[in-house]
Amino acid sequence: MPAGAFSACGLALACPMVAAMVDRDPSGVSRRDFLKQTGSGGAVGLLGGAAVPLASGTAQAANPAPAPAVTELGPGVMPVSLLVNGKAVTARVEPRDTLAVVLREQLGLTGTKIGCDRGACGACTVWVDGQPTPACMTLVLDVAGSGGKGGRPPRPVTTIEGLASAAGKLHPVQQAFLAHDAMQCGFCTPGMVMSCAALYERRRAQGKLGSLDEAAVREAISGNLCRCGTYPHVVSAMLNTAGTPGGGSR
Ligand code: FES
Ligand code: FES
Repeated sequence: MPAGAFSACGLALACPMVAAMVDRDPSGVSRRDFLKQTGSGGAVGLLGGAAVPLASGTAQAANPAPAPAVTELGPGVMPVSLLVNGKAVTARVEPRDTLAVVLREQLGLTGTKIGCDRGACGACTVWVDGQPTPACMTLVLDVAGSGGKGGRPPRPVTTIEGLASAAGKLHPVQQAFLAHDAMQCGFCTPGMVMSCAALYERRRAQGKLGSLDEAAVREAISGNLCRCGTYPHVVSAMLNTAGTPGGGSR
């Protein structure tokens, strides 16, 4: 039976004897040898007896580009610089720490909630670079400054605590949530507000607040789950925030 028949059905990998019989190429390297090499040595293959990178294209394999310098971080705790709500702060983090955990447990910004901790509920929504972002799915190192001369500055993070003005005046979306009773237990509310406020700011910057409609609001909060079912109030609040006719009365 041709080797291809075994390979197609996977038998060659499942049966050692078959693999030994049919999976040895003219260079003397068996599929099993190949898999062992790639499994233990990363993306390195045996071709003609010499170890070469498994790059695509002959030219690339012949002249591999020099690997960029990699700075190893961790695995222990390390200091990082962050920019949160307009303030430069430092924290000591492990590389595995999420932004949500660091905000809550190190910086005391507990307005950011953790519901699912896997990017499904939106309770942890903050802004990173002005964009609504699930903090539970963001490693804190992704927003931290890289430090050193010429290093990357920290990316701006805004939490619900930083949405009001410096003088303490609530953001228009926060005011609208209060006016339209757009919360019950309140667990989802910080994330919901951050998603809505991002939409509000985007439309305001475009001069299109007046054209805000229900579909746009529902899309903006499509990643925010509310088990109390406050969605109609949230939509109503947002439409009134934008001064759009038809919103508000419920
Ligand atoms: S806690 Fe982050 S999306 Fe649910
Ligand atoms: S107000 Fe309770 S989960 Fe949304």
